[in-house]
Amino acid sequence: MIGSAIHEILQTLQAAHLYRKLSLGTGVSFVDNDYLGLSTHTRLIEAGKRALDLYGAGSKGSRLLGGHSHLFESVEEAVARFFGAPAALLFSTGYLANLAAVGVLAEVCESVVSDEKNHASIIDAIRLSRLPKTIVSHLLWDPIAQQKGALFVSESLFSMDGDLAPVETIVRAAEASGGFALIDEAHAAGVFGEQGEGLLPRRHNWDAVAKVVTFGKAFGVGGAALCGSRRFIDLVLNRARPFIFTTAPPPVVVAMIGEALKVVRAEPWRRTELRDRAQWVRHLWEKLPGSPLPAPKTPLEWESPILPFRVCGADRVLRFCENVRESGLEIRAIRTPTVAEGEERLRVSLNLRVSRDNTETMAEMLRDLWTEFLLREQILE
Ligand SMILES: Cc1ncc(COP(=O)(O)O)c(C=O)c1O
Repeated sequence: MIGSAIHEILQTLQAAHLYRKLSLGTGVSFVDNDYLGLSTHTRLIEAGKRALDLYGAGSKGSRLLGGHSHLFESVEEAVARFFGAPAALLFSTGYLANLAAVGVLAEVCESVVSDEKNHASIIDAIRLSRLPKTIVSHLLWDPIAQQKGALFVSESLFSMDGDLAPVETIVRAAEASGGFALIDEAHAAGVFGEQGEGLLPRRHNWDAVAKVVTFGKAFGVGGAALCGSRRFIDLVLNRARPFIFTTAPPPVVVAMIGEALKVVRAEPWRRTELRDRAQWVRHLWEKLPGSPLPAPKTPLEWESPILPFRVCGADRVLRFCENVRESGLEIRAIRTPTVAEGEERLRVSLNLRVSRDNTETMAEMLRDLWTEFLLREQILE
């Protein structure tokens, strides 16, 4: 019985063009989040090797039960310094960090206000928190400023749309209303900010704000951290089940995070180059027929390395994606539930492992393939 129910679900997914399978990338990759190309950086790899020799393979336990070490202490201090926060706490993943942050804030906030396009980990965290919730239309925060004692939660650089939240507005609204702002900088950290700190600037007052940063994207490693006031971090350490009841990340990961922070600071050209490429591609696609790439709403948005190339319809986006992949480009189609129905797209994310020349060639190829695709559709109609 259960077996046939499982089969039925899979068949329904297949019929709706929503069935996923794992596939090995073959072409030039514009799929992953290794924006700065650090996953293959020799300094990170060497730091990892040294850590394996020094600390062994595993962390042996949760942070509160044997998993803690000087390495964690020093890297957490470095994370806090890097993001200009009083304190930081490491997690194995950003998913867990979001569950932890929202979970503890649910104890002190009366409700939660969340952007409709927030990441699945935020959505799940809110569901688990059981707080009364208000979902704001994407990026439209102004009317909610009056909510008292609420948790305001938003990504800063949106993972699927590549657009930017009004971070300062959200933080100010939280401060003014006796609430709290949680900013998820998973994709902005390392990419934006003077030294790669993200879109929430370093600040003195962290009483009403905290942020999530992840190290598996621009930092090229894995893992995540919560940054905030000492009191907030203390609450997480004492109350957050996704922190307390899980094995600490392996020391090798922690050591590479520490090195990645140094590299991001020491090699600002990576951020500049990435953002420059983003502007170049966006300008090339600006006038494409059917406007697949939404126009940036702010000057900074031109520099966002996440390019949502809209091709509405699950079937249609898969067909176009197939054309793109046949041309030697590794780009993936994004469908529901990752994005809403009707908002299907290719998510093109730029990264520095690919040369500038190949990035420009990709942009030109996609432009030409798109024009041909539209023409072919017109002929078939
Ligand atoms: C906005 C956002 N937050 C959190 C996460 C989760 O981070 P991690 O991959 O480290 O679990 C992601 C991952 O894709 C993300 O895009």
